[in-house]
Amino acid sequence: MPFMKDFLWGGAISASQVEGAYLEDGKGLSTADMITGGSVNKERMFFTEKVEGAYYPTHEAVDFYHRYKEDIALFGEMGFKTLRLSIAWSRIFPNGDDAEPNEKGLQFYDDVFNECLKYGIQPLVTLCHYEIPWEIVKKYNGFASRKTIDLFVNYAKVCFERFGDRVKYWLTFNEINGAPLEGTALSHLGMVDDFVWSLKKPISISELPVLPSRYEGTHNQFVASALAVKAAHELDMGLQVGCMLCNVPWYPLTPNPKDVLATQTKDQMFNYYCGDVMVRGEYPTFVLDFFKKNNIDDSFITEEDKQILKEGTVDLYTFSYYMSNCITTDPTVGIVGGNIVGGAKNPYLEISDWGWQIDPEGIKYVLKNLHDRYPHTPLMIVENGFGGIDKMEEDGSIHDPYRIDYLRQHITAVKEAVADGIPVIGYTAWGPIDLVSIGTGEMYKRYGFIYVDRHDDGTGDYSRHKKDSFDWYKKVIETNGEDLS
Ligand code: BG6
Repeated sequence: MPFMKDFLWGGAISASQVEGAYLEDGKGLSTADMITGGSVNKERMFFTEKVEGAYYPTHEAVDFYHRYKEDIALFGEMGFKTLRLSIAWSRIFPNGDDAEPNEKGLQFYDDVFNECLKYGIQPLVTLCHYEIPWEIVKKYNGFASRKTIDLFVNYAKVCFERFGDRVKYWLTFNEINGAPLEGTALSHLGMVDDFVWSLKKPISISELPVLPSRYEGTHNQFVASALAVKAAHELDMGLQVGCMLCNVPWYPLTPNPKDVLATQTKDQMFNYYCGDVMVRGEYPTFVLDFFKKNNIDDSFITEEDKQILKEGTVDLYTFSYYMSNCITTDPTVGIVGGNIVGGAKNPYLEISDWGWQIDPEGIKYVLKNLHDRYPHTPLMIVENGFGGIDKMEEDGSIHDPYRIDYLRQHITAVKEAVADGIPVIGYTAWGPIDLVSIGTGEMYKRYGFIYVDRHDDGTGDYSRHKKDSFDWYKKVIETNGEDLS
């Protein structure tokens, strides 16, 4: 059997994409609540105040807040061993810097975790998945400020202490390697430029200014994460804390050495910058060189921080994998879209309706690279899935062979990597229940094994329906990945 006996099969969701109830029981606003819905052809918009009449998909999402019992029962029926979900920071600290946590928020997650455990599902919890309390953005400009490090660490400690008896696996920041990219300061770091505050109208996400200070913001997240790891270990409750990155393999589009070198640089800066800091506890030289060459003053990396990074290395490395991309130095080559980042079109790969390249072999390539680089760190795939267009037939059935195909091919590749000796401890499919897309804010792009009757025009009764992939995934888990037919 390639997969170990206790392999963590399951699914992954995030609070803002499923919960809704965005102001219920004392929850405060978060960055995610400030972004409108869009589509593959219509960008999501952001404004520092609520726009009357605009549609904000996270405000209701798929109403997991009120329907979690039904949803967890369905996950239990599929045989999930784990459910990766996130805590909405703004449910616990509505103002970010409240003296005491919001008891009703804590109670909600008590109930959710207890419900999971009823079905033998071990929760795996992300502390910050693309949502930062909006008050922290207003008061401190998110992770631009070191004050936010303290606020995050306090929040993490409250969660560890309250839930640590039931939740053993924790992740600090979702896809942290998106943070130093251009244009992601709002979603990843909760940083908003003065120019945007002065705007009197909404701005599309791609027009948000590129902030040179994003490297410092990312560094502050490293420190916050390392301090959280240390705090978890000090509690002596057997907690394990991981990092979470978006892993995209980069291939040179041609054997032109210029393309090969550009690919190496992209791979380092996208896939290894953050992982090296969090797993090895120090900045790799290629990042320090990059700072030097680009005149980025790196005095924000203090001697004390270096010590913290060393002491707060993660226990496991987790990542999302959806696609690979190509790198070219030829400016005339067309670019395809992607998860956080796009790249040159690979002539050997198909693309999804959202332009994401489908590359099952790529996940094996990633696993092998990661194990070479971090040989002592267990690996886990915490997101992988197919966003597609599902249609409910008149008899209520939903046939999604494309999703089964995608998952079958990817799980096969993971299985081969495991058979080659790569220490993979689990796999959670992204969006086991339909949820709000991060990239486009739509419901139309669906990932679930469970269909939710909720649509982008705000219609639908939120009823849940099994797709064909539901029984398929149930069988995969039942046979511990043996039967993928
Ligand atoms: C990952 C995120 O980048 O990709 C998820 O962690 C996200 O939150 C997922 O939903 C899929 O992206 P999208 O844009 O299809 O929702």
